[in-house]
Amino acid sequence: MEHNHNKVIDEGRQGEALELDNANISGKKLYVESYGCQMNFSDSEVVASIMTNNGYSTTRNIDEADVVLINTCSIRENAEQRVRNRLTEFKHRKDQKPDLVVGILGCMAERLKKSLLEEEKLVDLVAGPDAYRDLPNLVDEVGTGQKAVNVLLSRDETYADISPVRLDHGGISAFVTIMRGCDNMCSFCVVPFTRGRERSRDPHTIVEECKDLLSKGYREVTLLGQNVDSYRWNLTSKGVVKDENQPTTNFAQLMEMVALVSPDLRIRFSTSHPKDMTDDVLEIMAKYENICPYIHLPVQSGHSTVLERMNRGYSREWYLERIDAIRRFMPDCAISTDIITGFCGETDDEHDATVSLMQQVKFDFAYMFKYSERPKTLAERRFADDVPEEVKAKRLTEIIELQLKNSKLSNEKQVGETVKVLVEGASKRSEDQLCGRNGQNAMVIFPRENYEKGQYVLVKITSCTSATLLGEAISIC
Ligand code: 5AD
Ligand code: SF4
Repeated sequence: MEHNHNKVIDEGRQGEALELDNANISGKKLYVESYGCQMNFSDSEVVASIMTNNGYSTTRNIDEADVVLINTCSIRENAEQRVRNRLTEFKHRKDQKPDLVVGILGCMAERLKKSLLEEEKLVDLVAGPDAYRDLPNLVDEVGTGQKAVNVLLSRDETYADISPVRLDHGGISAFVTIMRGCDNMCSFCVVPFTRGRERSRDPHTIVEECKDLLSKGYREVTLLGQNVDSYRWNLTSKGVVKDENQPTTNFAQLMEMVALVSPDLRIRFSTSHPKDMTDDVLEIMAKYENICPYIHLPVQSGHSTVLERMNRGYSREWYLERIDAIRRFMPDCAISTDIITGFCGETDDEHDATVSLMQQVKFDFAYMFKYSERPKTLAERRFADDVPEEVKAKRLTEIIELQLKNSKLSNEKQVGETVKVLVEGASKRSEDQLCGRNGQNAMVIFPRENYEKGQYVLVKITSCTSATLLGEAISIC
């Protein structure tokens, strides 16, 4: 679920280190590196919080670390390979500094369990996504020579009471996890095995976290879940055993609660599921100006038979009807998607259906991937991974080229318009230029003048590329 909107293909953000300079009791330093989806980056902030409450301080400099944790992704094989390479580098580091504790977190930890520790001897510690409260103990166990492994999945862990340590000093945009796990069982996906059953977080703790972020200068939150549309909190049940007679909070209601925190706090969310996205969510989006008109709605394939093999729970027609519904409620809403090419048994005709769906919908943005078979998934057990690599690659190239054109079209439509941008900071290329996103999530670059990070600025768009809008600021708004 990683979404770096500047790239057409995205295999996950890579190895970003986290830092917090706070007083620490033990004097020990923690270095955390995160890979993969937004949820992993959010989880690393929970990990940093747990560890700093136990006497650690965080560092961006791996050379001074006593504990190195790597938060990992299993979604495709190449994501895992990247982590393995990094772990081998850490191993060399450990040869120089034998006291160094190296731990693996996240989906690869859950998937491979103790084999990384016992057979491959790549790490000292293994903690799955629901075991982070146990990290301080696990690090201590390493110190006493024990095998430090906790990969228990939980039915109710949401880390609701943990206030994540934000690791981007002076940040503007923050992730807020609203639910964990996934109950969907899409046949290609390893997530239900690595992140366990779906459970929702208490909405009041979510609202409190958003209020706190606002007071610290944040101006945007992204509500995170594998399938936000199935968010459901039941007052009596803590989201575990659902009692149908008790009042519940659904995703539309949660979004409204968060939208009411402040008109100055912009709201995004990810990821929606076509089978569960209801009109009441679209209605709430249309009602509140501070909910961004942008939906990431992964289609995966444009052919109903492939969707059935993928166990997605909707057809091509259903998906297209949901797109119509979005446009009915919000004609200016941006829509992005995820697509997999070369899924088991995909024929030329089935691939062509994906191309025609892209032509019809004209997504503003898309993440596109070659199918990568994952152990234990339904697809691995049921179907042969029989589309040759070159065919997968050719199909991927075809849809990437089409998407580049569609992204350019989407940006060209905005040239001449005036858009509201939340300034994130200096652009990558120049300190004299600022960058930020409009509500539709397009990156906008404009001359700095006297504008500042964290302001909402009206920008008149003068030109564009397929990835960026360029313009001139008009005023603060
Ligand atoms: N192979 C390729 N892509 C995958 N995704 C999930 N599992 C796989 C896989 N086995 C993609 C889907 C999903 C996105 C996060 O990653 O498109 O929406
Ligand atoms: Fe994987 Fe499907 Fe769940 Fe997304 S909804 S995490 S693709 S099983």
